[in-house]
Amino acid sequence: MKIMVIGGGGREHAVIKKLKENKSVEKIFALPGNGGIAADATCVPIGATDIDGIVSFARENKIDYAVVTPDDPLVLGAVDALNKIGVPCFGPEAKAAIIEGSKVFSKNLMKKYNIPTARYEVFDTPEAACEYLKTTTFPSVIKADGLALGKGVIIAENLDEALGAVDSMMKDKVFGASGSRIVVEEFLTGPEVSVLSFTDGETIVPMISSMDHKRAGEGDTGLNTGGMGTIAPNPYYTKEIADECMRTIFLPTIKAMNAEGRTFKGCLYFGLMLTPDGPKVIEYNCRFGDPETQVVLPLLESDLLTVMQAVTNGKLSETEVKFSDKSCACVVMASGGYPKSYKKGYPITIPEEIADSVIIAGAKQENGRLVTDGGRVLNSVAVADTLKDALDKAYENASKIKFENSYMRRDIGQRALKAKEVK
Ligand code: AMP
Ligand code: GLY
Repeated sequence: MKIMVIGGGGREHAVIKKLKENKSVEKIFALPGNGGIAADATCVPIGATDIDGIVSFARENKIDYAVVTPDDPLVLGAVDALNKIGVPCFGPEAKAAIIEGSKVFSKNLMKKYNIPTARYEVFDTPEAACEYLKTTTFPSVIKADGLALGKGVIIAENLDEALGAVDSMMKDKVFGASGSRIVVEEFLTGPEVSVLSFTDGETIVPMISSMDHKRAGEGDTGLNTGGMGTIAPNPYYTKEIADECMRTIFLPTIKAMNAEGRTFKGCLYFGLMLTPDGPKVIEYNCRFGDPETQVVLPLLESDLLTVMQAVTNGKLSETEVKFSDKSCACVVMASGGYPKSYKKGYPITIPEEIADSVIIAGAKQENGRLVTDGGRVLNSVAVADTLKDALDKAYENASKIKFENSYMRRDIGQRALKAKEVK
């Protein structure tokens, strides 16, 4: 079987490593892949948003199955375009990917179908937003409607910050058209949980829960990033809470999307906050999370390709999806300066004996060497019987990886370890 995976980050590397476990996979192409993925797949220099290029490649190379992982090609309709030429895909069609592509859509969906989320208002002019903000309480959360590389959310502590956020999104257009409409929402508190799920539109199977660490600095300080590390399972996500989420959030979301004529097939990601009033949705993503995938897939005991194909074929209810009861930790090693400006092109040294536990996110091959090529450079991932052992191993391995000006948070998983002590 010839498989094509669209994307080129750590998440795609984790997906490819897992897909390779299936013996029927003869060849995996990554479009565009990266310098580390090159060890596990054939990288093809076609960008993840070049839908025409992706379709031509699939046709010319007789691709049997495509996995579309990043948000932008999904929102742009990569799955629709591939299905049109007869290539089965894992991932939602554009009309369902809108659940991530438009915050206004997802907020209105939740309101219409009584799915718990933060209270909100939508604005399409800066004047109306500013008038409203003068009457609201702080902190207040301001979100660009469209995709914004994970940076379209600003938590404003006061009116000045809020007005500044509105100006930058709606007047200065820092996120382009994504900021033509904004959502202003109530600030929620509580532990955050990421739940990725497989769904074929009828059945929904949550994967093992995880916890991201979004802020750049230790103790959850500093700027929001794409994610500085993850652990799974998330100790705050008890069986009782999982049952409640299934009843009040997961099944209602699938049904709501069906009722809207936007059946969702693929990986639906629920960003949840466990508030004092119960679990609420912070955001939906139409895809695997990054770096959540890096801790969730190593714990998947079932065959990933089989599960993905069951999703595509509407047979998820007949397919076993089993997770191990171990723990997994992922520590992100980033370029110093990320998420602001940083330099690229530094050679990376990874000792051979730990190479298997390293997922490459932003690096390329240059003159036969792996060099840094992004903000988040790589992930050190470890599985163990306990979370503490997984974290120790991930950090021990990370300490053996060298590149100039590298940065990692030293406190990934600490909050989770404390939560475990409390119970
Ligand atoms: P997002 O990019 O939508 O995941 O948002 C980034 C981060 O902002 C989330 O992980 C939360 O920590 C925070 N956030 C988003 N919405 C809210 C909210 N309504 N209340 C509190 N924090 C929020
Ligand atoms: N780690 C959060 C995301 O993938 O959006």
